[in-house]
Amino acid sequence: MYKILLGLHSGVRYIVIILFVLALIMAITGLFGRKPYSEANRKVNLFAMISAHTQMLIGLILYFFSPKVLLSDMGAAMKDTVLRYWTVEHMVMMIFAVILITVGHSRSKKAADAFNKHRAIALFYGLALLVILLAIYQSGRPIFGSSM
Ligand code: HEM
Repeated sequence: MYKILLGLHSGVRYIVIILFVLALIMAITGLFGRKPYSEANRKVNLFAMISAHTQMLIGLILYFFSPKVLLSDMGAAMKDTVLRYWTVEHMVMMIFAVILITVGHSRSKKAADAFNKHRAIALFYGLALLVILLAIYQSGRPIFGSSM
């Protein structure tokens, strides 16, 4: 079960990263090119958010199967950099990124004009992507490529 979940969580990260890079490029070009907020913008931004929510759910289940998560002895987990990263840091950083994504999507939806819709996505999705990439980098696992 652990291997299946880890493989799934590992694979879905490519979808998440690709969709966020795409959403970010589309938002920045829309912002600076003063482009209308198209149906393609709406769909890419929505699918990017759904991919992040799905990844968070898989991560939450994986959390209870991973041998690198030590909830029974938090003191010991805090003293070990690998255990601390997977027990606390990864989860906190990724949940923070998903909150940024959800807020950004909602702000973009509520914004009155195309400029402000693109701006909300560029800002919030951009920050979230940065947090996600930093978190993966910090884990020592490859951003692209398998560690298994
Ligand atoms: C957008 C959100 C997330 C992304 C992009 C992400 C990304 C990743 C990546 C790239 C790995 C390494 C996979 C590998 O070694 O091949 C990983 C592992 C893991 N993630 Fe996430 N993650 C996210 C959210 C979460 C959340 C919210 C949790 C927990 C609540 C979580 C828990 C874990 C666990 C437990 C591992 C496995 C550690 C191990 O046993 O090796 N992830 N994640």
